[in-house]
Amino acid sequence: MNRFNKDAITWDDLPRRVELAKKVVQNVKPFVKNKKVLEFGCGTGLVGINIADVTKELIGIDTSEKMVEKFNEKAKKLNLNAKAFVKNIFEENDKYDAIVSSMTIHHIKDIKKLSKKLYELTNIVFIADLVKEDGTFHTRGNEDVEHFGFSIDELKDYFSEWKMDYKIIHTIKKHKDFDVFLITLQKK
Ligand SMILES: C[S@@+](CC[C@H](N)C(=O)[O-])C[C@H]1O[C@@H](n2cnc3c(N)ncnc32)[C@H](O)[C@@H]1O
Repeated sequence: MNRFNKDAITWDDLPRRVELAKKVVQNVKPFVKNKKVLEFGCGTGLVGINIADVTKELIGIDTSEKMVEKFNEKAKKLNLNAKAFVKNIFEENDKYDAIVSSMTIHHIKDIKKLSKKLYELTNIVFIADLVKEDGTFHTRGNEDVEHFGFSIDELKDYFSEWKMDYKIIHTIKKHKDFDVFLITLQKK
């Protein structure tokens, strides 16, 4: 079973996860007003559901059915113009005004291919993920983890077709501190 299907039920119970999503929302929300937005790796919507009150339309996609179910339950309850679908980002072909993603790209092997896919779909992208770590972030093991975070040099290389802004927006406090970056990618 997809590990994220197992995790979906209790995903929102972890305060540090909710805290990080709030930081992403704070940083991204001013730029997505009245826009048609895609969130890939949307999970239960900790980010997407909390920006959907200002977007024109918010589409979430995720490879985990249970995450998508949770997202759609919340969107319905809050009467938001937001809907999630079970889909891999590499299968997405619709165009968007903006694309957002949080804590997902370290689960995606080919980031160069991801960069190209995003370039086809939109003009502006916001991605939050871990700064390079030592492999101890996922305390329950590294199954499905493709990258132990990212260095700025790696990111510059992966997203070389884009104009990139980079900033640290949050620190996740576990057995040690793990920094989280937010990159904003705009077409050159
Ligand atoms: C660590 S979770 C983050 C969920 C959510 N963004 C959050 O911050 O709470 C990563 C999510 O990305 C999804 N995912 C992984 N690879 C994906 C892909 N190629 N396309 C779409 N979703 C993917 C997983 O199913 C999982 O729900």
